[in-house]
Amino acid sequence: MIDVRHRPPVGLLPTPSGPASLPAGGSLGGHTAGQLLRLCEVAGLGAADAAGYAQVLTTALGPVALRPLSLPAPSRSFLSDDHTPVEFSLAFEAGQAPSLRVLLEPGGGVGGLARSGRSGLRAVRALARRWNFSTDPLDELEDLFFPLSPQGPLALWCALELRPGGVPRVKVYLNPAASGAERVSATVREALRRLGHPQAFTTLPESDRILFLALDLGDWDVPRVKVYTAHNNLSAAAAGGLSRKEDGPDPTEIEAFFRAAAGLENGQDTVLDRRPGLACHAFTESATGLPTGFTFHVPVRDYVRHDGEALERASALLRHYGADPAQLLDSVAAVTSRRPEDGTGLIAYLALAHQAGRPPRVTVYISSEAYRVRPPAVLPPRPGAVQEA
Ligand code: TRP
Repeated sequence: MIDVRHRPPVGLLPTPSGPASLPAGGSLGGHTAGQLLRLCEVAGLGAADAAGYAQVLTTALGPVALRPLSLPAPSRSFLSDDHTPVEFSLAFEAGQAPSLRVLLEPGGGVGGLARSGRSGLRAVRALARRWNFSTDPLDELEDLFFPLSPQGPLALWCALELRPGGVPRVKVYLNPAASGAERVSATVREALRRLGHPQAFTTLPESDRILFLALDLGDWDVPRVKVYTAHNNLSAAAAGGLSRKEDGPDPTEIEAFFRAAAGLENGQDTVLDRRPGLACHAFTESATGLPTGFTFHVPVRDYVRHDGEALERASALLRHYGADPAQLLDSVAAVTSRRPEDGTGLIAYLALAHQAGRPPRVTVYISSEAYRVRPPAVLPPRPGAVQEA
């Protein structure tokens, strides 16, 4: 285990130099809020917006924001590998400044799923009151996703797209296994039906697991309902066949993304056998009932020796899609002072999103690593790989 270096001293009191109301740097809230403030600066957000967003983050984390980093993670959060209940991401579109997002587990996931679900609902409703948006779609699903004795790996996560102006777009992630692993299909089918997509479930590809149902809440042009599916031992060809969206993407584009993100030479035939690839289908108002969005995620962290390699792949993909990797590299420097080569998992996923009417987007997920840095990997040779002489 590598220690995270340059960590500010532990303390519960506000730092004299920082904004008065943020927790100190040696706490979970101080650490993640500091990362967020620096990321906002890289993203070109104004200081007032950044301070507001950092405050929202620490408020949503609740009491665990004050928890010293010298203590273990507050829960076994499934949100990140080291159980930090916070993760950042940057979404890049050709020729545009990337947009910054933060994913978090309200309350830090403490106290079990039932309590965590209540903190989650409370946190989302507080955001809704503050920015005056409706939680109706979430309220309609409460009995399905917040039963008395919930099961599964999470209760509720919340993501904020940090736009200029201080009003984020909000996304809520729900756990389809809440009412039992054996009820996942029924739960997702019923949720989609209640949200006005009665045909959606039957259009989804076959998968090994349905991971999340996600809702866009707040100020979206076209709010989506998204279903995330996990696919074990996925090959490039199989990935190319996952999308059920009308009008593309072309399977060859997904295959090429798969190979570039997973680090496979063209033609080399192997599969994602360490952690599944994820597909996400988005449903919006549509006459056909077919999804209008498709995103493919590669858990790049399990297919690299270290983050230097992950960043090279991310940069190549960004250039391929007409985006400038400079801001990614600056963002990495904003979250950590360690060298990318000294660990794995800072870059958790690389994803390619296609949404009807919009250019493709490449998303890079950046871990907070508040608790642990995974050492660089010594990858065994892949069974299918050709050994170099
Ligand atoms: N940590 C989980 C995973 O790796 C969940 C998760 C966190 C995730 N961030 C994500 C899944 C981004 C997809 C995309 O699967």
